[in-house]
Amino acid sequence: MQNKNILVIGASSGIGLSVAKLAVQNGANLYTVSRRSTAALQDLSTRHYVLDVVSEDIVLPQLPDALHGLVYCPGSITLKPFHRLTEKDIRSDYDINVGGAVKVLQALYPNLKKSGNGSVVLFSTVAAQVGMSHHASITMAKSALEGLGKSLAAEWAGSSIRVNVIAPSLTDTPLATSLLSTPEKREASAKRHPLGRVGTPEDMAAAVVFLLSDASAWITGQVLHIDGGMSSVKML
Ligand SMILES: NC(=O)c1ccc[n+]([C@@H]2O[C@H](COP(=O)([O-])OP(=O)(O)OC[C@H]3O[C@@H](n4cnc5c(N)ncnc54)[C@H](OP(=O)(O)O)[C@@H]3O)[C@@H](O)[C@H]2O)c1
Repeated sequence: MQNKNILVIGASSGIGLSVAKLAVQNGANLYTVSRRSTAALQDLSTRHYVLDVVSEDIVLPQLPDALHGLVYCPGSITLKPFHRLTEKDIRSDYDINVGGAVKVLQALYPNLKKSGNGSVVLFSTVAAQVGMSHHASITMAKSALEGLGKSLAAEWAGSSIRVNVIAPSLTDTPLATSLLSTPEKREASAKRHPLGRVGTPEDMAAAVVFLLSDASAWITGQVLHIDGGMSSVKML
């Protein structure tokens, strides 16, 4: 990551913050964006910009001409029975998970291309692979994002830009607070995963840094399932 210019969108908490920390430890020139500027970010060696990627006309900050890595983290967990979902719920999940990513990717394509070896990492969910009740809205949005990732991997390969998607299962971040708010919920969630625990932001950050680095130079168009075996393993 030495001398690579890396932008993490959604770096003020959770997975994005963990990615930001690991990228700095690995020598990246880090740029970060989120709606808040937190103390944890101020402790990091980053140029942070406050921005809401869902707002109408976003203006991205001044970034280097060459951007080697872009990580898009903003997302949502709207869990509701399908018959109770409103159009607003569905639109809001789409806007943050897909709409924001589209705006950022379109704006930064020239910078990624200029780097000569750009890498994009997007975040889906295990629920886009395995049907889960009450996940219809978020799954529609994340499945669209996976489609976008694969399509762009094809379209941008000629510009030497790789695009990959990480699909986590439940990960211990502020986004998942309500799902992990009691010891009973934590234990039940851990038991649902073949590896016997929920994910950590560090589990995700390690994979992101790998996908941003030259160690993954021949990997593009993939959906990497980091989910303690949830999407692929059945315990008998
Ligand atoms: N945690 C899980 O269990 C889990 C499971 C499956 C998939 N995922 C996916 O993993 C990704 C990261 O999730 P996380 O758990 O790390 O979430 P998180 O803790 O809520 O962090 C999300 C980050 O995005 C920023 N953000 C949110 N809305 C934004 C906006 N409109 N404009 C700019 N920044 C915005 C937040 O900062 P501000 O509030 O300061 O803007 C925060 O830094 C998401 O895409 C999520 O869907 C998570």
